[in-house]
Amino acid sequence: MNFQCDHSALLPLSVKRIVITGAKGMLGQAFQDVLERHAPMATVLALGKSDLDIRSSDQVLSIADFRPDFIFHCAAIVNADYCEENPDEAHAVKVGGTRNIVELALRTEAKVFYPQSFLIYDNQDLPITETTSPNPLSVYGRLKLEAEQIVAEALPQSLVVRMAGFFGGWEIDKNFVGKFVPHIAKLIKAGVQSIEVGDRIWQPTYTNDLAYNTLLLLANDRSGVYCMASHGQASFFDVASEITKLLAIDEHFSITPASLTKVSITEKAKRPEAVIMENRRLNGEGLERQRAWQNSLAEYLDQPYYRSMFT
Ligand SMILES: NC(=O)c1ccc[n+]([C@@H]2O[C@H](COP(=O)([O-])OP(=O)(O)OC[C@H]3O[C@@H](n4cnc5c(N)ncnc54)[C@H](OP(=O)(O)O)[C@@H]3O)[C@@H](O)[C@H]2O)c1
Repeated sequence: MNFQCDHSALLPLSVKRIVITGAKGMLGQAFQDVLERHAPMATVLALGKSDLDIRSSDQVLSIADFRPDFIFHCAAIVNADYCEENPDEAHAVKVGGTRNIVELALRTEAKVFYPQSFLIYDNQDLPITETTSPNPLSVYGRLKLEAEQIVAEALPQSLVVRMAGFFGGWEIDKNFVGKFVPHIAKLIKAGVQSIEVGDRIWQPTYTNDLAYNTLLLLANDRSGVYCMASHGQASFFDVASEITKLLAIDEHFSITPASLTKVSITEKAKRPEAVIMENRRLNGEGLERQRAWQNSLAEYLDQPYYRSMFT
């Protein structure tokens, strides 16, 4: 990670015992990477779905013996369209699973970190801050909000971070950047020279930046709700155009904007047209460590995993 981060800032976490649920996912993996780099002495129990299914109360409570100080609750079903079509399964994981995690935290007195999604918002006045009332448009958003409320009510010392949409993890990146880059690599090989990309507005944010900044909050004993996003805003079209520039393929491949209606017609879950968050509380407390999305995207793409797709 090249951005300005204080290498000693996370040292208080070195003596902590940390459970990560959903540890094989994008955010769970980023926590492990950042902890390894900045607090390598922390005792981390990183559990993927095959190690721990959060729907099973017995499996979750069996972790009590580990005596965690923190539980980073990253396990979830994150495909909003899948949740729309499978609400019972989504409820069992997001709400049922979170209740089990809360029970574990109550038994062990562990502090829970809950990553919240920007999809709990509708087309509200921008920018969104910690005092903006959520109003989810989808099953995904409603269940995420219900789970956050369960955590906050049972565990007033918990930390909730409402995060922008992210990229990270290279081969496990199932969001826009992770899907788009291999897709255009295939198109270029097939001789295609342009593609249409939608114009919904978001704040593409690097998982490693989110993990570092969240760990900084925990190292400083913070609780409650924070908004966290990269600096700036971008449509998917903007991000796609930046990707072609950064990968130096913009001369052979062009991106044209597709209207939002054309994109949303294929989606099952309703999404807001634009969610722009302001890191107001982070800034107010001097704990903001985000950067311009173009800078973190450049760092993320400058890796053999992506570069090799175009050689
Ligand atoms: N993605 C975003 O842009 C974004 C933005 C803001 C907040 N968030 C939140 O951040 C958290 C992590 O998201 P992510 O993008 O890192 O998702 P991810 O990559 O899909 O990671 C979630 C992990 O949870 C696992 N999982 C699913 N069901 C489980 C179960 N029953 N028990 C245990 N593990 C289970 C998944 O395993 P399988 O893949 O094998 O099912 C996956 O490895 C979520 O709460 C999400 O809502 C995400």
